[in-house]
Amino acid sequence: MNKNYYITTPIYYPSAKPHMGHAYSSIIADFLARFKRIDGFNVYFLTGTDEHGLKIQRAAENDNVDTLKFCDKISQTFKDLSKTLNLTNTDFIRTTEKRHKDSVQHLWKELVKNEDIYLSKYSGWYSVSDEAFYNEDEIFEENGVKIAKISKSPVEWMDEESFFFRLSKWQEPLLKFYNENPNFIQPESRKNEVISFVKSGLKDLSVSRKSFSWGIKVPNNDKHVIYVWLDALTNYISALNYPNTNNDLFKKFWPASIHLIGKDILRFHAIYWPAFLMAAKIELPKRVYGHGWILSGDEKMSKSKGNILDPIEIINKYGLDPLRYYLVKEVSFGNDGNISQEKLEDCINSDLANNYGNLCQRTISFAVKNCSQKIPKKINFNNEDLKILDSFTSNIDKIRAEIDKQNINFYIEFIINALFATNKYFNDQEPWKKKDDEIRLNTIVYTTLEMIRKITFMLYPIIPDTSLKVLKIFDLKDKDIVFSSISKHDFLKLDSDINPIDILFKKIEKKDD
Ligand code: MSP
Repeated sequence: MNKNYYITTPIYYPSAKPHMGHAYSSIIADFLARFKRIDGFNVYFLTGTDEHGLKIQRAAENDNVDTLKFCDKISQTFKDLSKTLNLTNTDFIRTTEKRHKDSVQHLWKELVKNEDIYLSKYSGWYSVSDEAFYNEDEIFEENGVKIAKISKSPVEWMDEESFFFRLSKWQEPLLKFYNENPNFIQPESRKNEVISFVKSGLKDLSVSRKSFSWGIKVPNNDKHVIYVWLDALTNYISALNYPNTNNDLFKKFWPASIHLIGKDILRFHAIYWPAFLMAAKIELPKRVYGHGWILSGDEKMSKSKGNILDPIEIINKYGLDPLRYYLVKEVSFGNDGNISQEKLEDCINSDLANNYGNLCQRTISFAVKNCSQKIPKKINFNNEDLKILDSFTSNIDKIRAEIDKQNINFYIEFIINALFATNKYFNDQEPWKKKDDEIRLNTIVYTTLEMIRKITFMLYPIIPDTSLKVLKIFDLKDKDIVFSSISKHDFLKLDSDINPIDILFKKIEKKDD
């Protein structure tokens, strides 16, 4: 079995500082990367910034600074955000790096060699904000301004000499590929949109620009720069040292296991990227997953709409793990999700402080008082103990399979159910009434602690810092977190010390409480 896993986030435009939508893509990718690691995979996790194109050039001009200096500064804020979000990315790529430029120019030459590029003239609509071309039927007019229907961003007329990629030639091979690889595009609903777009007919794609210079030069023609999407998509292989396909990284991690992206950039990843790769005779990624948007007041968060929730402000106020947990739980993965501070506070109070935090605290205080602060050693499981412990054992393969479908909703629901079940178990078993039955009392405590340990292992990819705090109870560290061990009932060492921990989540006082 292939135990290598390569996951990527989109590379972000450093045109403005990061917002919650960016944090969302990265946190989900980090969750999947951490899960795969604790399940024994070698994980390569890539993120970075997409720094070329007219959008960035104009943003720098607006600020009156040199374009590269502008990129250096904002790219750094994305890098800092990766640290703040506690991402475990293996690499952070910038498209202004030499390794990337070399890789893009090589890919271009491969496309030329295979006769997939020709020189012509582009006349049509272009959105600088999306860095995308639109057909006449994809735009509408509002107050005299032409706007792209799909993104609502303004378009401008472009009329210039341009190199073209023979996208039309790849229409049938793409359809064949989608057919043979039904899980390539996910979720299912979005796959159908892509397929009908391809079926409606693909036109050749303009892949160079002549009217500005901020980009990677077309080899042997430095009047043109390479279209920013052809440039940006290539990051996924430049990070693996393409064109050197004989190196360890490329051999181990290509094709990518998953490109995790937002639904707005699915066309680029599910049509253009595979077509470029086919043309260059490179294997295609295994999956492209287009997640939904984080909405604020029912609208996509964006700079132009002024409805941006700043992840840093939220983290400063509530802490990182509550935000990570909230985004994973609240937004039904694959769909759009509306987020608000009020709902975040409810989630902290009910899920984190009550269901998880209280369970840990009261079980430990009980064990400190009644089991000499040790993991009980004389135990004897009855059917009820085994039933709750087995809920993990019998679901381990299911959890893995659902994660491989990016069914994050299943994962989080499983945890929430396990928390409810464990709280109920502790209440129903009433260990405080078993003070004259030492073995029963010990067994209830041991079972509850094992459940806390299993739940915490599963929570680790979502709330890593808090999970590690909880695992200190048992003297466990991150290297001890092995997913397969959630099937064990005897993981905790009998008679070892229980270390008390501080309160995990403070409840938030709400005005109407
Ligand atoms: N630079 C391109 C991606 C190139 S990948 C080869 C780009 N950058 S972006 O900064 O505009 O967006 C990056 C990602 O953030 C996209 O996946 C986009 O869907 C996501 N989000 C931006 N706003 C979002 C929300 N409000 N909600 C969720 N994700 C959204 O596109």
